[in-house]
Amino acid sequence: MEQTYIMIKPDGVARGLVGEIIKRFEQRGYQLAALELMNPTKQLLEEHYQDLKGKGFFAGLIEYMASGPVVGMVWVGKDVVKVGRKMLGETNPLASAAGTIRGDFCIEVGRNICHGSDSVESAQREIAMWFPRGVKVASRNTSLHALI
Ligand code: TYD
Repeated sequence: MEQTYIMIKPDGVARGLVGEIIKRFEQRGYQLAALELMNPTKQLLEEHYQDLKGKGFFAGLIEYMASGPVVGMVWVGKDVVKVGRKMLGETNPLASAAGTIRGDFCIEVGRNICHGSDSVESAQREIAMWFPRGVKVASRNTSLHALI
């Protein structure tokens, strides 16, 4: 079953949106496979955002991401990478539809509350990076899953 890495950024944690974001993924029918409140090192954050090195906002992005705890999660289920990104909204919250997390809770691209892997390959890389001890996906009661 497909997995994605969803991270609640320091502003999302500070604003008390952890429960709200978890609730949306649970209600949609996705399964939580890992969750940890962490204080990531700048080294880990630079590795996470390696594709953005060289962008003008990179240093500020790393500062912001290191400014407080984040909540890292692995969510599992059908098409969860693509649907998870839809649930988050666009990178720029001003372009995000109402009903998405960014569209409902923020207006600044540099404070956009949450991260979601952009492909299955990125998800695998990010999950290995943030949960190096591995993630065990419990088998789920499939009759319950079908009801959701
Ligand atoms: P990116 O990977 O392009 O977007 P996404 O998070 O939607 O996958 O960018 C990573 C983060 O960098 C983004 O969530 C917020 C920040 N960022 C800025 O601060 N300014 C910008 O102009 C862009 C494009 C991103």
